[in-house]
Amino acid sequence: MTKYIIHGGKPLYGEVEISGAKNAAVAILPATLLVDGVCRIENIPQISDVSLILSILKSLGAEIRTVDRTTLDIDCSNVQNRSVPYDAARQIRASYYLFGALLGRFGEANVPLPGGCDLGNRPIDQHEKGISALGAQVQVQNGYFQATTKGTRLQGAHIYLDVVSVGATMNTMITATLAEGLTVIENAAKEPHIVDLANFLNSMGANIMGAGTDVIKIRGVGRLAGGLYSIIPDQIEAGTYMAAVSAAGGEITIKNVIPKHLDSITAKLEEMGVTIIENDDSLIVKREGALNKSNVKTYPYPGFPTDMQPQIAAVLCLAEGTSILTEGVWDNRYRYADEFRRMGANIQVDGKIAVVEGVKSLTGAPVTACDLRAGAGMIVAALAANGTTEIEHVYHIERGYEDIVSKLRQLGSNIHVETITDEEWHVGAG
Ligand code: EPU
Repeated sequence: MTKYIIHGGKPLYGEVEISGAKNAAVAILPATLLVDGVCRIENIPQISDVSLILSILKSLGAEIRTVDRTTLDIDCSNVQNRSVPYDAARQIRASYYLFGALLGRFGEANVPLPGGCDLGNRPIDQHEKGISALGAQVQVQNGYFQATTKGTRLQGAHIYLDVVSVGATMNTMITATLAEGLTVIENAAKEPHIVDLANFLNSMGANIMGAGTDVIKIRGVGRLAGGLYSIIPDQIEAGTYMAAVSAAGGEITIKNVIPKHLDSITAKLEEMGVTIIENDDSLIVKREGALNKSNVKTYPYPGFPTDMQPQIAAVLCLAEGTSILTEGVWDNRYRYADEFRRMGANIQVDGKIAVVEGVKSLTGAPVTACDLRAGAGMIVAALAANGTTEIEHVYHIERGYEDIVSKLRQLGSNIHVETITDEEWHVGAG
């Protein structure tokens, strides 16, 4: 078992470089299954969710060649297998994009139901709605999501999504890319990774318009050919470092960002008294004085991202006064609150609302990362806390943050990784 040991209470200074966006990569990599030729993809983040998808692509028959640390050549031309192995796919949410891509390419797919973070109810009815509308017969059987077109080509359709869903929007886009005729997705999600997926598919020969608005039109094409594409920087990774310096104090430069994608996070932190200077592709974030309270509601983009909710909560724990958090996307995203309380935070949760009464300081404690962003929130809290925090279950964090320990060390924080054997762990746990 691996844990992070953080000796906090030390301001952050220096520069950090943001990696490629996780939630773009986990859709773009499966979408290479649609392409007849080599896709050279740059700025791929080295995180465990990406490694899992690459291993699934290889098991399906993709040829993958490393060009450099963050660039791969992926050739799925010879893939024939339409069935995804159970164990790997169960570990990630994004396995549902493999479903859309295999169905789009072969008219047939057999993929285990997705796993991913436990954030409460995570239905896939809108994926089913989009994909069925294109003419596939979809069923869930024995833990697998299965579909077939019975040998006919998928047909474009007019689809109104009942909820704004990132996954259902992207999956329908992927499935409709090679369908016959026009597909219109209404009430589509608008996150930056949706635009990135559309740009990737278009650069390989697709015809997708309107990504980034709530109506996306996909005119089906007969074939995608290979090409070069570079994944956008990760909005949430950047936001997490913004939260880290806001909580711990100091001044850092965050490089390789698209400042526009960070508008809602920047606005909230400025409201709390943090200074943010935007350059073309970098930000300077500085916090010296006291933090002001703020109310934060999470919404689909361009609202404040739910994936930043635990990290902003960690900052609010140290702000003067009472702040209210409202979770507008997931049913259960406050599982970290008990762990924050171990560190001296005053946070009370009632359903989708959390009330945070700011405290003067947090103190280090042993805590457990219960999901990816909760773990990121614990790192933010630990960097600001006096004393030592030990974070367990950091595999959740490593699903989405490339080299987080070395990046934080580069900013002067005192963090290291400790690995204990299973035997030591069981003795300790006894
Ligand atoms: N929903 C439905 N039916 C569906 C799909 C979604 O009712 O078929 C509901 C969900 O229950 C939720 C809301 O719609 O209440 C939004 O869900 P969405 O489909 O947008 O989420 P997702 O695609 O499963 C992605 C990210 C999440 C991120 C959300 C919201 C990936 C792999 N995951 O999930 O990222 O929280 O969008 O932005 O892209 C993370 O990175 O930590 C993470 C959890």
